[in-house]
Amino acid sequence: MTDAVIDEIDGRMIRIGDRWLADFASCNYLGFDLDREIITAVPEYLERWGTHPSWSRLLGSPVLYTEIEERLSELLGCEDSLVLPTITLIHSSVIPVLARDGTVFVDSRAHKTIYDGCQLAAARGATVTKFRFEDAGDLERLLREDRSRTRLVCMDGLNSMTGNAPDLPEFARVAREHGALLYVDDAHGFGVIGQRDDDELCPYGTRGNSVVRYFDESYEGIVLVGGFSKSYSSLAAFVACPTELKRMLKTAAPPYLYSGPSPIASLATVIAGLDVNEKRGDLIRADLFQKTAQVLDCLDRLDIHTPNRSGFPIIEVPLASHQDIGAVGRFLYDRGVYVTLAAYPLVPKSEVGFRIQITAANTQAEIELLVDVLGQLVGSFDLQPAHPKERAA
Ligand SMILES: Cc1ncc(COP(=O)(O)O)c(C=O)c1O
Repeated sequence: MTDAVIDEIDGRMIRIGDRWLADFASCNYLGFDLDREIITAVPEYLERWGTHPSWSRLLGSPVLYTEIEERLSELLGCEDSLVLPTITLIHSSVIPVLARDGTVFVDSRAHKTIYDGCQLAAARGATVTKFRFEDAGDLERLLREDRSRTRLVCMDGLNSMTGNAPDLPEFARVAREHGALLYVDDAHGFGVIGQRDDDELCPYGTRGNSVVRYFDESYEGIVLVGGFSKSYSSLAAFVACPTELKRMLKTAAPPYLYSGPSPIASLATVIAGLDVNEKRGDLIRADLFQKTAQVLDCLDRLDIHTPNRSGFPIIEVPLASHQDIGAVGRFLYDRGVYVTLAAYPLVPKSEVGFRIQITAANTQAEIELLVDVLGQLVGSFDLQPAHPKERAA
C-alpha cells in the first residue's frame, strides 16, 4: 500500500489495476474534492484567469489571493494571513526567519516537515533542542535553562498520527511566560475542528477554524500554520500572523519571492470551499464525527487499542508485533480496505501499525466494510489490547 498507481476513482472508492478498494487514506476530510458545488465553480475562474498566474507572489498576485487572505483571517479570527503554496515551503522558509540565531524548541514527535525547517534554521545559526512529546513541563524546564534572546517553540496541532490535539492553552502559557513564540502546524485540524459553541452539532466545534479557536485561545504569541491541501482539497497553505510579520515575510521568505504560485483551479476551490464551509460545513463535520464514532466504537468493542482519545477522524491502530506489518497490509488490501501503513523505522517499533482516516465522503457501506474487516483482522493477527488485563499481584 505504498506508491500505488490509482487508475480510477468512484467517490471514495479507488481502483488499482483490477481491484476496487475503499479509501481510508485520504486527507480530504470534508469531501470537498468530490463536492459538485466546488467542482462546478472552477471553469469560470479558468475562463477569467487562465490556468496558472506564474508570477512569483512578489511580482504580482491575482486579486483572488487578497480575497482568500481576507476571508481566511476573518474565519480564523486572526490579525492577518499570508498564503503560500504548501506547508512544507512555509516551514522551510518561516522557521529560519523566526528562529534567527536563537533557540528552537521542537516537539520530539513533530511532523518531518517541521524538523526540516528546524534543520535549515540550525544551518543559519539557530540551536535546535527537542522537548518530550505532549510534555509542556519538559518544555518549561528547557526554556528555564535557555539563555538565548530569540526563542521559538515548534509543534503540531491536531497530530497526524495519534489524532489527538495537544494541550494548547498550557503550551501557550509556558511559551508566553518565557518570552517564546509558539509556532503550531495544524495541517489536519484546519477544516475539522473549530470554535466551541452551545449550539454546536458535534464535539468538533464549529466553522472548522482550527486549533487556536477550538481551545478559545488568543493569537497573542502564536503563529498558526495550516494548509488547504487536506480539508479544502486545494494546493495552498497559510501562515496566520500579525500584519507586521506578514510584511517581513514578504521580503524574507523565499517562496513569496521566488516560488511559482498555486494554480488558479486551487485558488478557485479554496474560495468555493470557504463558501461551502460557511453554508454546510457544520453539517458535514457532524456527519464526519458520526462516521468516525462508528469506527472508534467498533475498535472499542473488539478491544483494539488506538491512541485516539479525541474522536477526531485520524485513527491509528498499532500492531502487537511490528513484523506483522507486511502481512496485515496484504490482509487489508485483499479485503478491499486501503489505509496508510506506518512501518519501522518511520515510527518506533511499538507503534508500527496502520492509520485509518475517515472522510465525510466515505459512504455508510464503506464504513461497514471497514468494521467487518477489522473484525476479521482481530481474529487473524495480534493487535494491542484497548483494555490490557490487570496483572495478578
Ligand atoms: C502535520 C503536517 N504538516 C505538513 C504537511 C505537509 O503539508 P504540505 O503538503 O502543504 O506541504 C503534512 C502533510 O502530510 C502534515 O501532515
